[in-house]
Amino acid sequence: MGKICASILSADFMKLGEEIDLAASGGADYIHVDVMDGHFVPRISFGSFVTDKLKGRVGLPLDVHIMAEEPERQIDSLAIEDTEFIVVHYEAVRHLHRTLEYIRSLGKKNGVALNPATDPHVLDYVLEDIDQVLVMSVNPGFGGQKFIPSSLRKLSELRRMREQSGASYAINIDGGVYPHNAAEIFGAGADMVISGAGIFAADDPKAALAEFRAIADKFPQ
Ligand code: DX5
Ligand code: ZN
Repeated sequence: MGKICASILSADFMKLGEEIDLAASGGADYIHVDVMDGHFVPRISFGSFVTDKLKGRVGLPLDVHIMAEEPERQIDSLAIEDTEFIVVHYEAVRHLHRTLEYIRSLGKKNGVALNPATDPHVLDYVLEDIDQVLVMSVNPGFGGQKFIPSSLRKLSELRRMREQSGASYAINIDGGVYPHNAAEIFGAGADMVISGAGIFAADDPKAALAEFRAIADKFPQ
């Protein structure tokens, strides 16, 4: 079964709790938390002062995506009990293997995000050390952007690499995912799709989630 992850970047922050509850009751599997520092990406979102408030109140595991320079500095404070994945950008980390090991040493699953122009083969020598590869299907930093089609090839390539290497990382995708393109994306090899605007900016977020759920459930992964 494919997985659905709701990105709160597009949620109404005036009622963040309600938005998260809606995602949880609507069938999402994870909540995606975008930490942005205003350097690696142009804008600032939020960090551990907000995730601390979510502690024990989400009801779903957190998938934390750090879009920051020196993401190593954020890891400890984001490794709260609700966090399942901590994802850092390949482009922002100097010692990737060490950072991946460090996240695991905290009892969390790690992840590596790849910008649209980054070749997945940069990960060839760390494949067995990774729990999740996050394919960025937009340039990171903003919700509501258009899906970049070459991301589909990257998903398939990551599948091939996983089969050949015997590694077991999850293959997730983030950016420009809507119910209308979700089937093609799962078909290309995604285990989980992350959607912000596709859920929270929809006319009817509950209906959008139900659509996502129905599509995800058709895939074996
Ligand atoms: C973008 C973020 C995404 C964002 C996706 O840089 O990493 O998680 O919320 O948003 P949509 O689904 O609106 O493209
Ligand atoms: Zn994200």
